[in-house]
Amino acid sequence: MTAEIGLIGLGTMGAALALNIVENGFETAVYNRTWSRTEEFMGSAGDLASRLQPSETLKDFVSSLASPRNIILMVPAGKPVDDMIAQLQPLLDQDDLIIDAGNANFRDSRRRAFEAKNTGQPFLGIGVSGGEEGARKGPSIMGGGEKSAWDRVAHILTAISAKFGDTACSTYMGTDGAGHFVKTVHNGIEYADMQMIAEVYGIMRDGLGMDSAAIAAVFARWNQGPLQSYLIEISGQVAAATDPATGKPMLDVILDAAGQKGTGRWTAIEALHLAAPATTIESAVAARNLSSRLSERAQGEAIFGAAPQPVDFDGIIDLLEQALLAGKIACYAQGFGLLRAASDEFSWDLPMAEVARVWRSGCIIRSAMLDDMADALTKTPDLNLMFAPDFAHRLKESHQGLRQVIAKAALSGAPVPALSAALSYFDTMRTARGTANMIQGQRDFFGAHGFVRLDDGTSGNHGPWAM
Ligand code: 6PG
Repeated sequence: MTAEIGLIGLGTMGAALALNIVENGFETAVYNRTWSRTEEFMGSAGDLASRLQPSETLKDFVSSLASPRNIILMVPAGKPVDDMIAQLQPLLDQDDLIIDAGNANFRDSRRRAFEAKNTGQPFLGIGVSGGEEGARKGPSIMGGGEKSAWDRVAHILTAISAKFGDTACSTYMGTDGAGHFVKTVHNGIEYADMQMIAEVYGIMRDGLGMDSAAIAAVFARWNQGPLQSYLIEISGQVAAATDPATGKPMLDVILDAAGQKGTGRWTAIEALHLAAPATTIESAVAARNLSSRLSERAQGEAIFGAAPQPVDFDGIIDLLEQALLAGKIACYAQGFGLLRAASDEFSWDLPMAEVARVWRSGCIIRSAMLDDMADALTKTPDLNLMFAPDFAHRLKESHQGLRQVIAKAALSGAPVPALSAALSYFDTMRTARGTANMIQGQRDFFGAHGFVRLDDGTSGNHGPWAM
């Protein structure tokens, strides 16, 4: 047997992806650094094992693949990917394709793509979203690299990907690091969606004194409406769960310090580099960082007293729903704005509507709203999403809810950093005459940096404060 595709790295995601590929009818060669893990994986593969070809050495693995070879790497991002490429290269032929399907930093994928171009060896960097379940049953796939390399494996990626109706959630995004950039922004939005949900959870728990079961019921109800999404759905399930050891709600036994592997942070860093503000995502990353400062927060509470204090929250549940809707639209507007800026900077020509389309199913941020975003971006791909008629309409109806929630949260002392960032972005982007004239005046005052006059449009002007 010669396998049509090979996969290296049988960790949780790699193992799930290999089973998905083989189940879709592609003979698959597999290799893992440790043979014991490969044996364990083969033992768990059930009926699918007969179509898997495991190898104990990299050399045997390469020999078990049909030429030209297609090899997916599912090893940890960073140095392990470079090390594996270096080990593979002497064993490969010129037209053998390496596909990095891990959560790579897009800058690494760019570098690897350019290095591959120099050596003539094809390379793809693909973003794969959906966690273990997605990898096994159908992830969302965002491709980057040479289009000819993508075309070679597109039929496999299409087959294994999630489907939205009849449409496969697997798309070529652009050259070099485009696929991993889109995946990174997906993760940044994932952070923001999760943080905004956590903020409204905090208001329900602390401001309204609701127990987890009541909170779970609210999330379950919201999941039937315009907020319908995987993250709202699982938030309800998390809130509804009981700790088998203590009988307490699971949420009450989980430490309030969020982990992170770094992709959200990369999104915020790239947003700053590109001068494409993604303030809701930036706030969500900062909130995760602050969540880990447990003793410092306890110190603050000892000095200033616990926040939040309950205030008049009558009717707030409906307002919270509106707040999440408005916050989400503002956040996605920033995410798509960031994608646009990167597309221009790196000459990717990112297909904006397609990005929304591949996020409709399989990935962590999948939601009903993404289908409408895909429609809006098809009609007006270059327009700020908040200004697309459908979303402008929704914002007109929901921004007051967001505003009231933030006002009440501020008065009670409940931190709502991501929702606040979303509202400030919305308000900034509907203020034609802003306040940066003051900043320009200050800059000119202390540094003679000059300013543009409003009346005649001339630049390099100075104020009467010049020494
Ligand atoms: C996905 C997820 C996944 C991510 C985890 C954890 O799309 O499947 O984004 O890629 O690694 O969600 O991310 P953090 O550890 O950074 O929260």
